[in-house]
Amino acid sequence: MSLTHSVFNDESKLDINYIPAKLPHREKEQRLLGAFFNFILQCPGKMSQRVILVGDVGTGKTALAKNFGADLVSQTKRKNLKFHYIHINCREFRGSLQPILHKIVTTFCSNYPARGYAADEILATLIQVIEEEEIHLLVTLDEFDSLIQKEGSDAVYKLTRIHETRQDKPQRLSFLFILRDLKATECLDDSTKSTLQQNIVRLERYGKFQLMDILDARVVLAFKSGAVEEDVVDLVAELAYSETGNARFGIELLWRAGKYADASEFDQVRAECIRSAVSAIIPTVRRSELVSLGFHEKLFLLALARHFRDNTEAYIQIGEAEKAYGVVCEEYDESPKSHTQIWLYVQYLSKLGVLKAEVGAAEVRGRTNRLSLPSIPAAELEQVMQHSLHEAKGEL
Ligand SMILES: Nc1ncnc2c1ncn2[C@@H]1O[C@H](COP(=O)(O)OP(=O)(O)OP(=O)(O)O)[C@@H](O)[C@H]1O
Ligand SMILES: [Mg+2]
Repeated sequence: MSLTHSVFNDESKLDINYIPAKLPHREKEQRLLGAFFNFILQCPGKMSQRVILVGDVGTGKTALAKNFGADLVSQTKRKNLKFHYIHINCREFRGSLQPILHKIVTTFCSNYPARGYAADEILATLIQVIEEEEIHLLVTLDEFDSLIQKEGSDAVYKLTRIHETRQDKPQRLSFLFILRDLKATECLDDSTKSTLQQNIVRLERYGKFQLMDILDARVVLAFKSGAVEEDVVDLVAELAYSETGNARFGIELLWRAGKYADASEFDQVRAECIRSAVSAIIPTVRRSELVSLGFHEKLFLLALARHFRDNTEAYIQIGEAEKAYGVVCEEYDESPKSHTQIWLYVQYLSKLGVLKAEVGAAEVRGRTNRLSLPSIPAAELEQVMQHSLHEAKGEL
């Protein structure tokens, strides 16, 4: 493989640690965070706040919090406010409060000993230091569920009620807690729960078209112009949508598919590269399920496999699929089944996850009744179908 040949322009834009400056479809939630923490800009020290950011896997919680934090840092700078944003992933500390607080305090006291001080003492030092240096602080505790699980109500209570015993003093420490599911807070006692749950920002799962926008923006940053066609982005968005609207999954797929394209020395990321990427990431349909399909279902799949092997488009219209099936039937000396019967096959194969069928989307993007092969590489499907049709013929 020549090293200069690549579909990528800058693959680091698909790295999991890269956070784009703009997060499409999260503007409203970012404004809501802004409203909750606006006091840091307007009346710093007069109050503090605790906010929960909740959403499913890959809905942009970490990205949104980091973007928001960076934004707040630049806004406070303009106002000459001493402000720090600290983002901690609790899971990296296995949810233990002591090392988490130690990590926070070392931002200000780099020599603070890692051992020998209990969480309460570190917290007291932290409050004292930010008081002395007149610093305002927003700490995000990401994957907060691991801390709840490990430390329980007491620790959460300590964090959420820090300022209650010192009401005449400026309040300098606010928290943003990130959770995948509010259920994680159910084990907390009632008073801790109620303090925690006053301000909640929810990130709903992305829809398919939102995922397309997110992926389109990444494609522009990461790939050479023309290397990823719209249909391929559409297919990736569809897959990420089925994976609970997980943007990370879509971005990872794009990266991996790009790698497959480079390895094959293609100029473009083809739908087949996406399928290879998916089958490498998640277990796809079991071979045994494919082998136990009916004879004509297999003929139909063989036709689709050949079509997708020879064509770079991600989708096929159902009429075209029927024609390809007709050709395969001729080859196997079979008379083709009716249109209605084929439609039943399509429904069954979609249920199995072998195919993906989109029905009646004419108004949305001018496409009707089209099929895609989301997760099995066409070449692999062709091989399995040919082999099993051959065996079935032998048995007849
Ligand atoms: N609206 C968006 N625009 C651009 N990129 C996004 C958007 N939402 C998420 N992403 C990207 O998708 C990936 C996953 O997002 P992120 O890590 O923030 O998810 P998360 O909600 O924290 O997931 P988890 O629960 O697994 O921690 C990241 O690469 C992120 O940059
Ligand atoms: Mg996250």
